[in-house]
Amino acid sequence: MKQIVTKVFSYLVFFFVVLVLLPISVGRTDNAAGKKIFLDSKCNKCHSFKSQGIQQLPKSADAEAEDADEGEKIDPPDLSTLDDAFVKAGLDKFLKKQVAVEYKGKSRKHKKSFTGSDADLKTLIDFLQGK
Ligand code: HEC
Repeated sequence: MKQIVTKVFSYLVFFFVVLVLLPISVGRTDNAAGKKIFLDSKCNKCHSFKSQGIQQLPKSADAEAEDADEGEKIDPPDLSTLDDAFVKAGLDKFLKKQVAVEYKGKSRKHKKSFTGSDADLKTLIDFLQGK
């Protein structure tokens, strides 16, 4: 009898951990994988992401030259708040340069195409959206 009680009790503890504590702790961890993809992809060459404590990297000489080539300069936005237009167009398509989005009065494709896997792209987008 005592054995059964112990068994039932340990099942209860198990379900409590899986159903209650685990989701809470997962919800709280920040998306470290997404942050790593962001930094590894050098998104911070152009963007700051202040709500995540990411500053824009200092500009290298060749980045300056790249800008000058394009004639017109547009400051890449800080990513702490995303513009709805990009979200509606589909961030996945935008980051792969498959769609152009109206931004500051002009239809634009993103400067950089994301070259990683689809799974990484999804993790990255979750990170951008604070998930
Ligand atoms: C060479 C500079 C450059 C790099 C590198 C770059 N971006 Fe951008 N990004 C821009 C510019 C400029 C815009 C403004 C819209 C446009 O011109 O496409 C933009 C727009 C965006 C937007 C929409 C902004 C908003 O307000 O909603 C997102 C999201 C974004 N970039 C994410 C990324 C991610 C993620 C990476 C790394 C994989 C990255 N960018 C790398 C220049 C860059």
